[in-house]
Amino acid sequence: MPRRFHIRTYGCQMNVHDSDKLTNLLLHAGWAQAESDGSCELLVINTCSIREKAENKLYSDLGVLREWKDEVPGRALGVGGCVAQQEGDAILRRFGHLDFVFGTHNLRWVPEMAEAAFEGMRGARTETNASQERFDLPERHPEFRASTPGRAFLTVMEGCDMFCSFCIVPTTRGREISRPAQGILDEAAALADAGVRQLTLLGQTVNAYGRHDQRRDQTAEAGTMGFAALVRRLAEIPGIERIRYTSPHPLFFDEALVRAHAEVPELCPHVHLPLQSGSDRMLDAMRRRYTAEEYMRWAEALKAARPGLVLTTDVIVGFPGETEADFQATLALVEALAFVDAYTFKYSPRPGTPAAQLTEGSVAADVAQDRLERLQDLLRRLTLDAHRARVGETTEILVEGPSRRATERPDQPVQIRGRDPQHRLVNAEHSAPGGSLVRVEIVDATPHSLIGRPVPAEGVTLTRGERIADEKGRLSAPS
Ligand code: SAH
Ligand code: SF4
Ligand code: F3S
Repeated sequence: MPRRFHIRTYGCQMNVHDSDKLTNLLLHAGWAQAESDGSCELLVINTCSIREKAENKLYSDLGVLREWKDEVPGRALGVGGCVAQQEGDAILRRFGHLDFVFGTHNLRWVPEMAEAAFEGMRGARTETNASQERFDLPERHPEFRASTPGRAFLTVMEGCDMFCSFCIVPTTRGREISRPAQGILDEAAALADAGVRQLTLLGQTVNAYGRHDQRRDQTAEAGTMGFAALVRRLAEIPGIERIRYTSPHPLFFDEALVRAHAEVPELCPHVHLPLQSGSDRMLDAMRRRYTAEEYMRWAEALKAARPGLVLTTDVIVGFPGETEADFQATLALVEALAFVDAYTFKYSPRPGTPAAQLTEGSVAADVAQDRLERLQDLLRRLTLDAHRARVGETTEILVEGPSRRATERPDQPVQIRGRDPQHRLVNAEHSAPGGSLVRVEIVDATPHSLIGRPVPAEGVTLTRGERIADEKGRLSAPS
């Protein structure tokens, strides 16, 4: 029987996607996928280092896993991802029961390192790789089960050269590099052939795609193009009905991308555009390289380009030096732009970042907590307002699977959960499988989701996204 592996994943979509790539690699190397820690010989933890809490999660996990390792002889334990890249073999020295460590550029070595672990060899590989090789992974293994039916992540660029003063990512992911467009288009076409309808383009600053090649006038040699041009090419692929991208950086918006939002129906009316702060003083200290006004201009241009476009964002409170007035500026901007949702964070100092050296102006924990709660109160109101305004609309959802209620209450009618083009979560009574598109009327709104009622395909006015899907004959009628 082949040996079995299991991967625990923390962190952002990039990490989720890396775990998928690793799954694929291990399947190619003859491993089988296990459902849980209990039924595998190899456990891999793919880690996140974005805040101290995320990093500490690894250390507490590793503490507990000492027992897991001792329980059954011949088990192997590996750690990868952003903490691994940051700490290197220091983790190996600190945790004697850990077998191997691999960085964010070293996925390809994992099958080998895992084999070595069973021979009793420990090791760490965290060297960076500045070449295209880091994208070059094998074709999908036939046994690879997409964890997201109908949807797929697609890496267009990796790494980050922005060096925001608070952020560890430039250290953990290395220098920015864009993939040649042809490889991206080929992968997208293969995904579409395999039934994928929605692509989420990934990159730490995804809309900076190709920028270094453009600046050096080397797009022809590098095979890249502008981000908006890439989006247009992807939208032409038959079967691709929805395109999303994450995370864009406000500095890399341009007219071409705004126009794409107006003209490319496949491009979803949702942009997750990290703001961080509404105060220019803070934005400057964070080295974000835009002002609140510049951010606002792009946000408004996007909304004007695509009516109904939803903006979501990331905000940090309690950055060193943040005063009540700075925080008020953040609240005012969040309200003015009516974000429909946001990830909100208390600033967490990260090793080696410029902000971690700031010794003055640190914000007391209770003040930061209070600001976080006030911001979250405002966002709860904005989310609910936005959700309520949607009641009565007809939309389409891409089904993700059974809703949580369905698993908790098996006696109730079947409930599914899906996302509308605006990326809002919609629950509906339906039995369509994951990956299908279902037309629904929004009949109710909660703070976290929308409630949809399936509607038949005839006799309703279609939204633009639905019309495309309809033309491609892919809308599934309610069962
Ligand atoms: N590349 C993306 C962000 C990736 S990190 C961008 O530039 O927009 C995701 C979010 O984590 C960031 O947007 C920020 O809000 C938050 N974050 C990053 N470092 C942080 C830190 N040191 N403390 C608190 N939040 C942080
Ligand atoms: Fe971090 Fe800034 Fe790069 Fe985003 S753009 S990953 S916040 S350094
Ligand atoms: Fe975390 Fe690394 Fe992503 S630090 S947020 S997993 S890039």
